Amino acid sequence: MKLFLDTANLEEIREVASWGLLDGVTTNPTLCSKENLPYERLIKEICGLVSGPVSVECVSDRAEDLISEARKLNQLAANLAIKIPVTIEGLKATKILSSEGIKINMTLVFSPSQALLAAKAGAAFVSPFIGRLDDVSHHGMELIEQIMTIYENYDFETEIIVASIRHPGHVVEAALIGAHIATIPYGVMEKLVKHPLTDSGIEKFLQDWKKIPSK
Ligand code: E4P
Repeated sequence: MKLFLDTANLEEIREVASWGLLDGVTTNPTLCSKENLPYERLIKEICGLVSGPVSVECVSDRAEDLISEARKLNQLAANLAIKIPVTIEGLKATKILSSEGIKINMTLVFSPSQALLAAKAGAAFVSPFIGRLDDVSHHGMELIEQIMTIYENYDFETEIIVASIRHPGHVVEAALIGAHIATIPYGVMEKLVKHPLTDSGIEKFLQDWKKIPSK
């Protein structure tokens, strides 16, 4: 399972990259708005910190505008994936951009039919937002299961990025289902490592270590 960090914060990316486990980064306009850096400069800096794909989002409406925006963004670095929302205009743009070899991450996916169309349009990635579905009393992880089944039925190569993750349980469930990628906020990434029994176990071993005679 690939682990992406869902942030535009350079310090968080540097920190998790130093763990040696970071496969990519996803951003969105909300995350970028917190960083107080010009968009293109921020994107270039993030792309310099990881070798895996960095998803950055287009904000145009119409297909022709999405296409020019995506082509321009894609020139900023070699490891970009361009996020396009799953709309009719977004699908038109995705079909064309994917045929040019640009990696598209179709985002704001909330239904299996949207994920099917994204794959048919040639998207390299789809991002179903499971936390936002949970927030409105749906079971977000069911959507991941449905998309997995559809993609397996037809051998689609589109990779599923489980997005809008809220807690470690989401990551574990996604891994049990066999989702390709989880994109994880920094706070949840830290929680994946932590366990109180590990901490108390280390403390006890250190105390007992001191009781061992040195000679
Ligand atoms: C994914 O690509 C999005 O950036 C993100 O996961 C959205 O998460 P949120 O619902 O916590 O905003």
